[in-house]
Amino acid sequence: MLKGNKRVIFILGVMMLVILALSRCMTEADKIPPDARGENYAGAASCVKCHADVSKSFVHNAHGLSSGSVDNKKLAKLVTADDNTFAFNERLKIKVERRDSGFYQVGYIDGKQVRVERFDIAFGSGEKAFTYAYWKGNKLFQLPLSHFSEINTWANSPGFPANAMYFDRPITKRCLQCHSSFIKTEAKETTSLAIEEDLQKGTLISGIDCERCHGPAKEHVVFHLENPEEKKPKFIAIYKTLSRKQKMDACGVCHSGNTLTSIQDVFNFKPGDNLDNFYAQDFVSFSGDNPDVHGNQTAMLKGSICYQKSEMTCQSCHNTHENVKGNMLVYAQKCMSCHQTQKHSAKTLAKGTLKANCINCHMPMQASKLISFQTAGNKNINPYLLRSHHIGIYPDQ
Ligand code: HEC
Ligand code: HEC
Ligand code: HEC
Ligand code: HEC
Ligand code: HEC
Ligand code: HEC
Ligand code: HEC
Repeated sequence: MLKGNKRVIFILGVMMLVILALSRCMTEADKIPPDARGENYAGAASCVKCHADVSKSFVHNAHGLSSGSVDNKKLAKLVTADDNTFAFNERLKIKVERRDSGFYQVGYIDGKQVRVERFDIAFGSGEKAFTYAYWKGNKLFQLPLSHFSEINTWANSPGFPANAMYFDRPITKRCLQCHSSFIKTEAKETTSLAIEEDLQKGTLISGIDCERCHGPAKEHVVFHLENPEEKKPKFIAIYKTLSRKQKMDACGVCHSGNTLTSIQDVFNFKPGDNLDNFYAQDFVSFSGDNPDVHGNQTAMLKGSICYQKSEMTCQSCHNTHENVKGNMLVYAQKCMSCHQTQKHSAKTLAKGTLKANCINCHMPMQASKLISFQTAGNKNINPYLLRSHHIGIYPDQ
């Protein structure tokens, strides 16, 4: 007979052996939690084990942060003591308010509350702006006020009416196709025979995650977990081996602007796929040879002589895993890797250190033609500035 402590240790020991034996029966594949996109996906959490560095930088970069549930701590920093009201006029106001169950945008007419909706989802990394949405059943709607980083204040969301309170702009699957990794939708016929799309709230995978860019990777994860000695990547698209068009398409799926209509579910796009099978030009909003700077780096770049006369791709200048925002010298190095020498006139040379400014002169900031915003009590419209990806000679710079 075992007594006291010894007996406890014996029982614990047996229990541990049983747990160990049971866990051996579970294959590596069984341990991966289900993913809303389907059986072939493993989810970003399962990449951390073997790709710790990339995973760590990813949570702080613009793709990782392109959408997510509202973080009240982060939001609290944007809500200042005195400046949370947007007044359309004397009578009509929207206020950002903290209440017991979260943050809300509250509409007032003559001081009387007429509408109140909660901050549920945030869009944008905040580099330029945050805009927000609230759930109403299985639909998402954009909140009327957005926070603009440049002016560090709340203002009317881009494209919203200048003199009326508007809480009813739907956030469609289209926004989420560029700003998130997945949402499942269900088409429903309405009484007027129109087709309405319901978003299935629980299936939203926010942020642009690893598998959104790299394609479904469950087989890759399982193989490498079971074969830790294998150092060569298996069952995953290898970017290096893609053609130039395939590389451009992998970014172009979200960086070709807002004037395209999808002809196939864009969430199914994987590296190596041909983007022409996913999009058709929407001629109603097509801006022809004069693409808008907003979200359309692909067309802008393709119009540049650099692009036409070299094998340049987006990756020539961007490492999407890193966050090098604002470091113009890093980008100037990329220019100089192809342009060791440049023929500048005496007039240009007289403008001082060229090296630090390649970008400002040849890829100047430009105002989006489609997006602008209005600040409170101010009829002026502020421009929304973006980096022109049409690399060229801009005599005014
Ligand atoms: C059990 C380890 C393991 C896990 C988990 C894992 N990988 Fe890998 N992965 C590897 C190994 C090994 C390589 C090859 C060496 C390297 O590039 O680091 C690799 C390489 C890659 C590559 C580079 C392919 C190329 O172009 O060379 C990508 C992309 C990748 N993995 C994506 C993922 C994603 C996405 C996940 C999560 C869904 C993931 N991996 C999870 C082991 C793993
Ligand atoms: C699933 C859609 C999607 C794909 C695929 C995608 N992007 Fe993006 N990208 C976005 C969105 C959305 C933003 C804006 C994020 C924000 O600021 O909220 C963005 C922002 C960026 C930025 C600016 C922020 C920064 O990190 O400096 C760069 C550069 C960029 N993308 C490059 C690329 C390149 C290169 C590729 C291809 C390898 C790519 N993207 C693929 C959607 C995508
Ligand atoms: C916006 C798209 C995008 C996202 C999101 C993304 N990657 Fe990548 N990744 C790329 C591209 C493009 C390359 C190829 C870089 C090259 O060849 O210049 C790459 C390369 C890699 C490589 C090869 C080694 C390296 O670092 O270049 C690994 C491993 C990898 N990615 C893992 C991941 C993991 C893990 C995640 C999620 C934490 C992730 N990636 C998220 C676009 C992305
Ligand atoms: C075709 C892809 C695409 C669609 C659709 C799209 N966006 Fe974007 N969005 C981008 C890209 C790319 C950027 C990065 C900056 C740029 O190029 O304008 C961006 C930038 C943003 C930003 C600023 C982020 C920052 O901090 O810099 C917000 C906010 C935003 N989008 C919200 C939305 C909302 C809301 C919708 C739907 C009404 C939407 N987007 C639809 C691709 C898209
Ligand atoms: C010749 C270099 C170069 C190439 C090639 C290039 N970019 Fe950029 N990109 C830049 C520079 C420089 C910036 C400004 C970075 C900053 O402000 O920190 C930038 C900024 C961006 C931004 C942020 C938007 C903004 O206006 O701040 C996005 C999104 C982006 N690039 C996407 C792309 C995509 C997608 C491709 C391929 C179609 C691409 N870039 C190709 C140099 C390049
Ligand atoms: C992958 C190589 C490559 C990169 C990177 C590159 N360029 Fe170029 N660029 C070229 C080539 C090739 C030409 C055409 C030269 C010729 O025809 O003599 C060119 C032409 C130009 C021109 C003349 C355009 C015109 O309209 O006459 C300018 C200006 C220029 N590049 C600036 C830049 C700047 C600034 C950068 C960095 C943001 C850059 N390039 C990055 C390859 C590149
Ligand atoms: C002060 C603005 C300015 C700066 C800074 C600047 N450029 Fe230029 N660049 C110009 C102008 C203007 C021209 C047209 C020729 C001229 O008038 O000097 C030009 C012409 C060029 C050309 C075409 C002529 C040729 O050499 O084939 C290239 C390439 C070029 N620049 C690359 C660069 C690179 C790379 C940098 C950064 C090291 C840079 N430029 C910095 C304004 C500038």
